[in-house]
Amino acid sequence: MKSTLCLSIVLTLFRLVKSENCTVQDDARQEKVIVGQPFWIDCNEILGVNQKTYNLSWYRNGSEEPITKKTDSRIHQRDDKLLFLSANFPDSGSYTCVVWASTRCYKSVVRVAVFNNSDGQCFNDELFDKQKILIGSNSKLVCHSMPSFKDDMSALSIRWYKECKQLDGERFVFLDKDFIINNVNSNDSGKYQCKATYTYEGNKYNISGSILALAIGSPVKKGTEILYPRNNTIEAELGSSVFVECNVSDSTDSLTAISWKVNKILVNDLFDGRIQEGYDKYFPAEEELLTVVPLNITVLKQEDYGERFVCHAGKVAAYISVQPPTRHYTGYLAGGLAALVFITAVLVLICMLFKIDIILWYRKSCHLFLGKKVADGKIYDAYVLYPKTHNPDRFVLKVLPEVLEKQCGYTLFIFGRDDLPGKALVTVIDETIKQSRRLIIILESGSPSYKLLEEDPEQQIALYNALVHDGMKVILIEMDKIKDYSDMPESIQYIKQKHGAIRWKGDLTESQSYSASTRFWKKVRYQMPPGHQISTELPLVETSLNTCQTVGR
Ligand SMILES: *[C@@H]1O[C@H](CO)[C@@H](O)[C@H](O)[C@H]1NC(C)=O
Ligand SMILES: *[C@@H]1O[C@H](CO)[C@@H](O)[C@H](O)[C@H]1NC(C)=O
Ligand SMILES: *[C@@H]1O[C@H](CO)[C@@H](O)[C@H](O)[C@H]1NC(C)=O
Ligand SMILES: *[C@@H]1O[C@H](CO)[C@@H](O)[C@H](O)[C@H]1NC(C)=O
Ligand SMILES: *[C@@H]1O[C@H](CO)[C@@H](O)[C@H](O)[C@H]1NC(C)=O
Ligand SMILES: *[C@@H]1O[C@H](CO)[C@@H](O)[C@H](O)[C@H]1NC(C)=O
Ligand SMILES: *[C@@H]1O[C@H](CO)[C@@H](O)[C@H](O)[C@H]1NC(C)=O
Ligand SMILES: *[C@@H]1O[C@H](CO)[C@@H](O)[C@H](O)[C@H]1NC(C)=O
Ligand SMILES: *[C@@H]1O[C@H](CO)[C@@H](O)[C@H](O)[C@H]1NC(C)=O
Repeated sequence: MKSTLCLSIVLTLFRLVKSENCTVQDDARQEKVIVGQPFWIDCNEILGVNQKTYNLSWYRNGSEEPITKKTDSRIHQRDDKLLFLSANFPDSGSYTCVVWASTRCYKSVVRVAVFNNSDGQCFNDELFDKQKILIGSNSKLVCHSMPSFKDDMSALSIRWYKECKQLDGERFVFLDKDFIINNVNSNDSGKYQCKATYTYEGNKYNISGSILALAIGSPVKKGTEILYPRNNTIEAELGSSVFVECNVSDSTDSLTAISWKVNKILVNDLFDGRIQEGYDKYFPAEEELLTVVPLNITVLKQEDYGERFVCHAGKVAAYISVQPPTRHYTGYLAGGLAALVFITAVLVLICMLFKIDIILWYRKSCHLFLGKKVADGKIYDAYVLYPKTHNPDRFVLKVLPEVLEKQCGYTLFIFGRDDLPGKALVTVIDETIKQSRRLIIILESGSPSYKLLEEDPEQQIALYNALVHDGMKVILIEMDKIKDYSDMPESIQYIKQKHGAIRWKGDLTESQSYSASTRFWKKVRYQMPPGHQISTELPLVETSLNTCQTVGR
């Protein structure tokens, strides 16, 4: 009594240790079965155990009790195989086969999924064989669904269908399990079905198999290629649903298993249904099979961002990851920058075109407030130098004083008008130039040489000194177009080069030329000292200023 108890305890312990030390093979093998059909799983095929003597048992998902070996049971073990005489929906689940060999223990888990083969459906998209037939040859299709048990399971003749129509005709030869198509053409690609009735232990079972036939031109094997995803990233809002498809092109002979995984675990096992793998869809093409396997993220969560959702197709894999939508700052930035550049360009252009007007306007507005002009000890705003010919006389003695003195309130020293009596010419020129803020030189092409200066080298030197050493500003006014300056004295050439010249374009007889707001006078005023308006008392300033601004408007 005692010894029996002891033995049973020892045996139980032995069993426990053994089973715990089993080498477990769980390669997530999936078996698909059509409801109502006979079906079997071969454990040895999975494990490949070579030992001659071993004990093998099948277990329903982790149950302690092995599955029976009685042949009248709908599910039973026969030899190493687990046999379903007719699969039912509740048979879906996992099955474990455990092998105890002399020294080691092996264990393998198989997942069984029972599918509906609804009537009227002539092809089972969930469960089919892919077979190739060569164009121009006589090729055969094999009904693999037919169980190959020995004597006690027998098949009646197999009927073949293509897209629901039973096949008949001289091109087709029906054999035991196979069927031969003579002289295959590209139209022979398509969805086939084989049907038969089986008898086992006196009972009859209907059996059918789906075959996807691909008529190929040459036996080239391009292999398996994932067309999409391509390790890319897509954008999606938090909480939205994301639907992507794994598109696989397969030209191998076997059917490639395609599944969506995260960290090598099937998404269906990982996310409690929030992320699901959809049903495979098949699109047979001439030489390859395009398979589309959807991935459905019903609600996108924060932790999904950056996760790699990997589509595995046999040995190849490619992933897709999701990232939050990026706001297109770069677009705005580029646009803003372009606008800024454009505005700057426009402003620069405006400044260049209206430089003179802007400065004059600025002088006007600022000097209203400044009130006083800088005390530099000078008397005249400009010293006017001109050749003694007819036209400049009129311009110098009439127009110039009218605009600059009357309208704008400048004080001019006009040689010939404002001569100081009793003083030597040289002294007059030398002194008054020093007392002037600007030097206005009038030029005319009619007077080839600048007599006044030419005749008196001392004056030239005085003038030159004023220009170069005192940094006096010179306003050169051309009465007409002067082509050649080489006739002019060197000092004039120097001024022309350094400061340029303002060309008179008006008509001396027209009153419009007497307006301070014409282009010509604006250019002159621009070069004149800024503080001219405030040369005397304030009321006078206002009138002179007003005149200067309003005349000609
Ligand atoms: C499991 O088997 C290995 C040898 O395959 C052995 O070294 C180890 O001790 C065993 N473990 C248990 C708990 O029996
Ligand atoms: C298999 O089991 C039988 C009895 O259940 C036993 O006699 C035999 O030794 C076992 N063989 C192995 C290899 O475990
Ligand atoms: C095991 O199978 C039973 C049905 O026999 C099922 O209710 C149960 O959920 C399954 N458990 C696992 C872990 O698969
Ligand atoms: C299987 O298909 C039949 C016929 O289309 C339908 O009546 C039945 O509900 C389906 N069963 C399941 C579990 O899908
Ligand atoms: C394939 O079928 C189409 C339409 O049924 C037919 O026009 C064409 O000739 C067929 N091709 C071959 C190679 O038999
Ligand atoms: C098998 O199929 C035939 C028609 O093909 C039908 O009459 C019969 O009832 C089916 N048997 C079973 C067990 O489904
Ligand atoms: C995948 O293939 C299907 C069917 O040909 C097509 O409608 C879909 O646009 C493809 N998707 C991608 C991402 O290429
Ligand atoms: C994704 O799954 C949800 C829940 O099962 C379903 O309502 C939705 O239609 C699916 N989306 C697509 C595109 O299949
Ligand atoms: C995508 O990434 C996988 C590794 O995750 C790599 O094996 C594969 O070559 C990549 N495919 C492409 C198209 O870059």
